[in-house]
Amino acid sequence: MANHLAQTKTPQTRPVVLGPVVLGIESSCDETAAAIITLDTRGKPDILSSIIASQDSEHAPYGGVVPEIAARAHMGKIKSVISQAVSAAGLHYDDISAVAATAGPGLVGGVITGLMAGKGTALSLGVPFMGVNHLEGHALSPRLAAPCPFPYLLLLISGGHTQLISVDGFGDYHRLGSTVDDAAGEAFDKTAKHMGLGFPGGPKVEKLAANGDETSYKFPRPFKGKSHADFSFAGLKTAVARAFDASDKSASAQANIAASFQRAVCKTLSDRCARAVEMFKSRHRQYFETARRPYFVVAGGVAANQLIRAELTALAARHNMEFLAPPLRYCTDNAAMIALAGLTRLQSEPTVQSELGINARPRWPLDAAAAAQNPASGFGKKGPKS
Ligand code: KG4
Ligand code: ZN
Repeated sequence: MANHLAQTKTPQTRPVVLGPVVLGIESSCDETAAAIITLDTRGKPDILSSIIASQDSEHAPYGGVVPEIAARAHMGKIKSVISQAVSAAGLHYDDISAVAATAGPGLVGGVITGLMAGKGTALSLGVPFMGVNHLEGHALSPRLAAPCPFPYLLLLISGGHTQLISVDGFGDYHRLGSTVDDAAGEAFDKTAKHMGLGFPGGPKVEKLAANGDETSYKFPRPFKGKSHADFSFAGLKTAVARAFDASDKSASAQANIAASFQRAVCKTLSDRCARAVEMFKSRHRQYFETARRPYFVVAGGVAANQLIRAELTALAARHNMEFLAPPLRYCTDNAAMIALAGLTRLQSEPTVQSELGINARPRWPLDAAAAAQNPASGFGKKGPKS
């Protein structure tokens, strides 16, 4: 049974709408999501509805996201998720001023489903359609929760992405670091799968780790002390799998392995982020000389991890930065962040041309120049991933 999460401010009552109303659609991985956003009287984003239909139960038997199952599930859910978002906002389709949908990067079957639904809706309403980079949605997501001024440093840690981005303004994103192999969430998921804990792995590992001794295994901290801000998790994942295979698999051994793995991820993130903070500081030194402290923001599903949050909170404080971890509903994949990217674009480009010709892009680096010069992962015929 799909898990439908609805978040609305004033369900079923018709809101007074002052600014543009944007329908956002997200379908790049395993959440089918739609949201309606507008501006409040102070010109701040106002999320009127946010509907997320998770596919966790469909993928759980396989220990990870199965692209074919995801594509079929998106097709089955997209129509009702969009109409739920419109009615939960207390609006009619005619109230929508523009539609924004994720056009990539992600699993192509899902991206096509959301993109086609978005184009069709825009075309039938006679309003502009915008194709959004999913990573841009994540990059702007903290602004759904708090007035987070540019520039800020973003750590995006999800099941599909691990990146450090200097968010210098709308449309102005600079990659400071990226994973060269697995994403942080993937390391949690694959470790959980190897240990037979279930999917998604992050929460299961965190729960098990609570009873373990984090110093019992010395796992690698990939790239520790390197002058770049890239990440690698493949070697750590393999080391944990080997330790598990060699263990007696008792409850205490499993808890110790989970705790030691979680600590290694935590310390690795902290080391790499400290490097990125230095890069961010030299890029934006003037902001560290004013009374207003720049933000260090963490987004993505792995940001739910309490130990990781605590580690990053301390890191930000050491570097005289504000720490912001948006509520989890905006950290993990959602359509409100895609709608916000559309709304922000509409504000900067009020006569935006409809992008009905845009195609699904399974690979779409946010910082195209950095990805072309130094592809952190994936290249060849398909192009750089990040
Ligand atoms: O952002 P998200 O919902 O979806 C994408 O991958 O885009 O992130 C899901 C990832 C999964 O890998 C999941 O295992 C991880 O976030 N995760 C966690 C925790 N909760 C979710 N990882 C570590 N600790 C957690 N508590
Ligand atoms: Zn995502």
